[in-house]
Amino acid sequence: MEILRHIVVLVHLVGFAILFGAWVVEAVNGKHQITRLMNWGLAIAGVAGLALAAPWGIEYDLNYAKLGTKLVILVAIGALLGIGAGRQRKNGSVPGGIFWSIGALTLINAGIAVIWR
Ligand code: HEM
Repeated sequence: MEILRHIVVLVHLVGFAILFGAWVVEAVNGKHQITRLMNWGLAIAGVAGLALAAPWGIEYDLNYAKLGTKLVILVAIGALLGIGAGRQRKNGSVPGGIFWSIGALTLINAGIAVIWR
């Protein structure tokens, strides 16, 4: 059970890596587009995160305030990805505030995961 949980944590981290990596590519190449990989990364991190939010394979209590905060931020990132993709289809570009918020919120969620114990 513990090993399975570690595997789900690994999948969760892969989702984070895909989302943040895809965003960094767009930030560095200057195009600032929303890409399909970002949606995939968010979906993978989200599904694995929800699986980890249940207390199985551990002997300590989960921090539900922290998990709830991460869930709210995940939903906010999803909304920004959706709104940004809509603007991109309509105008060909994503407003800077939306693009940079996606990266910042992703990093904040990773920060919350490792710093808030
Ligand atoms: C974009 C969204 C998210 C990002 C970037 C993210 C990032 C991370 C990272 C980097 C870790 C590893 C931290 C560590 O093991 O010390 C982690 C662990 C974890 N995340 Fe997330 N996360 C996200 C969303 C969620 C959501 C929505 C949930 C559940 C509601 C969640 C639940 C967890 C749990 C329970 C762990 C701890 C795994 C364990 O040690 O058992 N995450 N997350």
